[in-house]
Amino acid sequence: MTNQINDPEDIDWAYFWACKLEAKKDRAKDWNKAAPNFGKSAKKDDYHNKLIERIDLSKEDTLLDLGCGEGSITIPLAKKAKSVTGVDSAYKMIEILNEKAKKENIDNIKTIEEDLTKITMNNVGAHDIVVASRSLNGVLNIKETITNINEIANKYVYITLFGPNNWKLEKDFYQSINKEYFEFPSHRYFFNILVDMKIYPNVENLNIGNEREYTSIEEALESGKWRLDTLNDKEKESLYKYLEDILDENENGKLSNPNDKADWVLYWWKK
Ligand SMILES: C[S@@+](CC[C@H](N)C(=O)[O-])C[C@H]1O[C@@H](n2cnc3c(N)ncnc32)[C@H](O)[C@@H]1O
Repeated sequence: MTNQINDPEDIDWAYFWACKLEAKKDRAKDWNKAAPNFGKSAKKDDYHNKLIERIDLSKEDTLLDLGCGEGSITIPLAKKAKSVTGVDSAYKMIEILNEKAKKENIDNIKTIEEDLTKITMNNVGAHDIVVASRSLNGVLNIKETITNINEIANKYVYITLFGPNNWKLEKDFYQSINKEYFEFPSHRYFFNILVDMKIYPNVENLNIGNEREYTSIEEALESGKWRLDTLNDKEKESLYKYLEDILDENENGKLSNPNDKADWVLYWWKK
């Protein structure tokens, strides 16, 4: 066997994280396009409550929200914090977040349209708490990003990453059409990267409760979950048939599948 690693201590987990991510050609999503519907579909499960209730935050605290999106997490956190800095590279997300904050008369959120990997202690300064909710899975230079996050945070860091079952239906679909499926790097790489950096995190599966529900197959297709831009017409047709097969009417009269659930893992540590 070539390339055998004789000592597990020699494994450079950040290197393997980047290799795995580079192989995943469809990793970059168009978040500007997804922005208008993101809040609506995101609100359908209990992710927000489950994450927010775990964040130890008081009115004295300043918080940095990296990859803040359209504010479904940022706005409730701003109501509990002294101030929040929200960073996102998608202008449309920032625009929606600012509109929502204005509507609710929230004036303690500052937004920055920027790549979160460029955020350092030098350009944003120290914050009590740093949150990166569902925004680090696609980051290539993960070690540098964690180094910056850890430097910025005075009290706590909270990060959520895909759990192993997040893409279960997608994997099954690709298998059904005999197409290779490239996964995001597993969160266990992330665990090892942290430990190698002498950061010892608490790790918890958020056990998101609700199954996704749709009123029609078309709605399931357009849910933003399927990367239709990466599928050709024949594959889209197969996806339609696959969804017809796996989605059943539930007690609410909606279409759903027990495996169609978000799976998020929370990493948090105290400084
Ligand atoms: C799944 S959404 C999560 C939004 C919000 N944090 C939440 O949990 O509801 C991912 C967000 O991260 C942003 N994002 C992804 N990669 C980014 C990067 N390198 N720099 C800045 N923002 C990024 C996207 O634009 C998008 O708004």
